[in-house]
Amino acid sequence: MRNLKGKDLLSISDLNREEIEEIFYLAKKLKTLFYLGKRECDYLKGKTVALFFEKPSTRTRISFEVGIYQLGGHPLYLNAQDMQLKRGETIGDTARVLERYVDGIMARVFSHSTLEELAKYSNIPVINGLSDLEHPCQVLSDYFTIREKKGNKKLKIVYLGDGNNVANSLILCGSLLGMEVICSSPKDFYPNSDILKKAMDIAKKTGAKIEIIENPKEAVKDADVLYTDVWISMGQEEEKEKRLKIFPPYQLNRTLLSLAKEDVMVMHCLPAHRGEEITDDVMDGPNSIVFDQSENRLHVQKAILALLI
Ligand code: CP
Ligand code: NVA
Repeated sequence: MRNLKGKDLLSISDLNREEIEEIFYLAKKLKTLFYLGKRECDYLKGKTVALFFEKPSTRTRISFEVGIYQLGGHPLYLNAQDMQLKRGETIGDTARVLERYVDGIMARVFSHSTLEELAKYSNIPVINGLSDLEHPCQVLSDYFTIREKKGNKKLKIVYLGDGNNVANSLILCGSLLGMEVICSSPKDFYPNSDILKKAMDIAKKTGAKIEIIENPKEAVKDADVLYTDVWISMGQEEEKEKRLKIFPPYQLNRTLLSLAKEDVMVMHCLPAHRGEEITDDVMDGPNSIVFDQSENRLHVQKAILALLI
């Protein structure tokens, strides 16, 4: 096993299966301790982690801030709008300065290349807190949640809607974990083609199955998990009108739910646009585990931070 200390986590493909298992193992341990009332530990004692945001956030910001505090470290929230970046300082120079002060960077950015720049110009771990390409912390928490509910087995996971950052990471992580991941998206909204190729290559070795099925009714048949995300991601607001016309057949509603397994788990990374990609009755219904996913962001990210920094 490689030592994760000092590594970046920009993509799920920065990890191998063993490392994902190591994260899950520590997350489970930290979550158990948390429920026993032992919330504080010293994995990050004396360390500061910068939390850099170009976009809004509820879950990512709060779970990282709280998690770093519970690990004994100091979370430093940085809004890109308040920094000299706004006046033209480069990401590279910002990274060079940050590494002199802090022990790690978690960043939520528009362009994935911004994360790569942060990682290139600093010698401290950089963690992707969402880019246009991936959302690795989210899907690690999601697969941890699936594992908690169903144990360690091959499941049929069907993602409905926009082949976005969450879909890309879900597919990559599913391929490493040997899952069957089906993405059901309209033609022009498939997941990233390089990521799909990478996931299919990985799947050949792990026994995973990665597939695109455009027809949502066909895709959801016998699913163990139905996963969806917003149709209009942050930064795509100008495409709203066009997207709202294309995506309705992919809405996670009672009809699609009834075609999956009876005990299917409904997942969403949140925030949800209720009435668009998911209906109220499904999101609030007995199959929904969306808030368990949110909860696990805290425990899984604590494990990631403890192992990387
Ligand atoms: N799922 C997620 O990353 O949520 P936030 O945008 O609230 O951080
Ligand atoms: N795909 C969404 C995820 C939000 C957590 C976005 O990028 O806005």
